[in-house]
Amino acid sequence: MAIISLKKPTAQANSIDPSLDLHKEIERLKKQKNAVILAHYYQESEIQDLADFIGDSLELAKAAQKSQADLILFAGVHFMAEGAKILNPSRKVLLPDLRAGCSLSDSCPPLAFERFRKLHPDHFVVSYINCSAAIKAQSDVICTSSNAVKIVNRIPKDKPILFAPDRNLGAYVAKQTGREMLLWQGTCMVHETFSEKKLTELKLRYPEAEVIAHPECEPTLLKMADYIGSTSALLKYSVESTKKQFIVATEEGILHQMRKRAPDKEFIPAPPNGNCACNECPFMKLNTIEKVYLALRDEKPEITMSDEMRTRALKPLERMLEWSQ
Ligand code: 13P
Ligand code: SF4
Repeated sequence: MAIISLKKPTAQANSIDPSLDLHKEIERLKKQKNAVILAHYYQESEIQDLADFIGDSLELAKAAQKSQADLILFAGVHFMAEGAKILNPSRKVLLPDLRAGCSLSDSCPPLAFERFRKLHPDHFVVSYINCSAAIKAQSDVICTSSNAVKIVNRIPKDKPILFAPDRNLGAYVAKQTGREMLLWQGTCMVHETFSEKKLTELKLRYPEAEVIAHPECEPTLLKMADYIGSTSALLKYSVESTKKQFIVATEEGILHQMRKRAPDKEFIPAPPNGNCACNECPFMKLNTIEKVYLALRDEKPEITMSDEMRTRALKPLERMLEWSQ
């Protein structure tokens, strides 16, 4: 896949003085520039370990909104950093690698979505936060995987709902709320990769293990799960459970926090379909410690957008934060 070749170090990364202690330099730059590092659970372990705050999409959006730092370095993907800029526009928001996109977000191009929406003008538009600012701007409310059920439950019963872009999360929320929803047919390339056949085999090898899954997984896989939740919910559940073994069906980065917080337990990544590392998000993994250092040093790449786009995208995001209190 073409994206894998993006992992090659850039010319800029190659120019870093090899004698530098990057961890120390990052700490120094953070203090000097009043910067904060926010990281998603799918980041490389090394980045998670130096972050000031780690969380799921909702927690990160809240942390970005209330941040007093002059610089917010977002160790995540583009739509997350864009969300931080929308919520806290007076701060400079940096993304270590601007190519860190998202297959789910890409599955929903703004013009095609506008046409789809116009075919259903009476529908209330709920968009998963994994979408661009241009999709957010066309939405009535945003949700994340941790508050989607709560958000949909707030919508008047007589209002038809259009849900975008993730059809798997949409189907899961429709089932949980009993609401009929028109679904945009997007998926996440990581979460659709898990194999039911291999998971069945793995369950035979670990009969005591519980299967815990993210709602971006296919419905057939979710049927096999003992617990379904956002990354933070999966982490909390596995740490607090009396069970000792877990098969984890989401991006493998979360296993780092699970192993740190529950070292006596065993966490087994759910197997992908092929013999690949497809349970790693190639976009999330574009961020490296070298790029974090360079971004803090050079204060770029920076997330920017027009005021018009920002204000339109802000409304549904603020509604989400209000409804999820
Ligand atoms: P959460 O952070 O809401 O668990 O979503 C996971 C994800 O796919 C982020 O890209
Ligand atoms: Fe997008 Fe999936 Fe990667 Fe999350 S894991 S950033 S939804 S491609």
